Amino acid sequence: MKEMNKDIIFKYIKQEAKRQKEGIELIASENYVSSNVLKAMGSILTNKYSEGYPDKRYYGGNEYIDEIEKECISRAKEVFNAEHVNVQPYSGSPANLAVHLAFLNPGDRTMGMELSAGGHLTHGFKVSISGKYFDSVSYGVNKEGYIDYDEVRKIALDHKPKLIWSGFSAYSRIIDWKEFKKIADEVGAILVADIAHVAGLVATNQYPSPIGISDIVTTTTHKTLRGPRGAMIMCKQEYGEAIDKAVFPGLQGGPHNHITAGIAVALKEAQSKEFEEYSKQIVKNAKVLADTLIEKGFNIVSGGTDNHLFLVDTVKSVNMTGREASDILGSVNITLNKNSIPHDERKPWDPSGVRIGTPAITTRGMKEEDMVKIAEYIDRALRDTSEKKLKLIREEVKEFTRKFLIPGIDNL
Ligand SMILES: Cc1ncc(COP(=O)(O)O)c(C=O)c1O
Repeated sequence: MKEMNKDIIFKYIKQEAKRQKEGIELIASENYVSSNVLKAMGSILTNKYSEGYPDKRYYGGNEYIDEIEKECISRAKEVFNAEHVNVQPYSGSPANLAVHLAFLNPGDRTMGMELSAGGHLTHGFKVSISGKYFDSVSYGVNKEGYIDYDEVRKIALDHKPKLIWSGFSAYSRIIDWKEFKKIADEVGAILVADIAHVAGLVATNQYPSPIGISDIVTTTTHKTLRGPRGAMIMCKQEYGEAIDKAVFPGLQGGPHNHITAGIAVALKEAQSKEFEEYSKQIVKNAKVLADTLIEKGFNIVSGGTDNHLFLVDTVKSVNMTGREASDILGSVNITLNKNSIPHDERKPWDPSGVRIGTPAITTRGMKEEDMVKIAEYIDRALRDTSEKKLKLIREEVKEFTRKFLIPGIDNL
């Protein structure tokens, strides 16, 4: 054991812990899991093979694994009010591929939101398998940055997709799930809502739920839901068998049981009063951060946010590309990602904006007054990029983050 701890990998883990501790994490898809989630993920459950589903496994010795997976499913049903849940997808991308596999043949048509409008690669983008093996069409957002449902309807009627994707990686407004369902029904498509980003907000009623409206709901478990990296597919009972078969044996092998246990722990946490307060605070923080940046002259896509994230047009705000802005902020320990903005004329690897999200910093206990401080750091760093000023801000950020704990890091 002692020898193992000399493994350089553990040195890198410590360095990464320090990086997480001394930085302000604004990547909208990231979070810090609890010590109990970490404990479940780091457990001996990883030793076990369990191909199949509870009580129907291809391997022996699964009596306890079965109980864990059943409990995880039951908690997911309770939290989201879902009829059928599959907790085995390895992550969000395979979950979305499993949905394609369940309902489409290669070459069939799928329709999703454009990447530059805030959609995800797996909703039919051309470089993804979802856009290579299936015939994909996409919808965008209007000039103001909102989904235009008449436009979505028109594209759906013109192209008659078999599957319609709603949901996003970078859209700061409320989605009208019912309107999407109406459109899907009008063209005879199955509607999928991908709530990867807002799952924690949906679980606590801080964002409208598509469950009971959308035929299929996919989600990652590691963003606002604050669980381990994984995913779930929730659906109406009638689609349950098709989904289960698509996940296994269609796409995957043995489930990651340690992750299933971690998801179960996170789902229990998601039912607590503390988690509800946490979710409310995520949205409050996002609004204050966006509003403070607007006061400082920043251009925010759609003018604000209704959820945990928003996009800043850095070209319009500070005459910098998203890559330049994220590099400068990275140098002062503020981490975020460059992001295309709607109707972006620049390419995705050097787009016109950045995406900012508050789930991780809210887990650390940051509140409205801290958002004002963070907006100040961003404003100062992007408006005066002299090495002397950036060094000063980096030291201030390190000092600022000191009092905000991260589970599993402060006792590493
Ligand atoms: C909306 C949405 N769906 C799916 C995914 C894919 O999840 P993963 O990275 O776990 O494959 C993401 C991740 O960013 C996402 O934002």
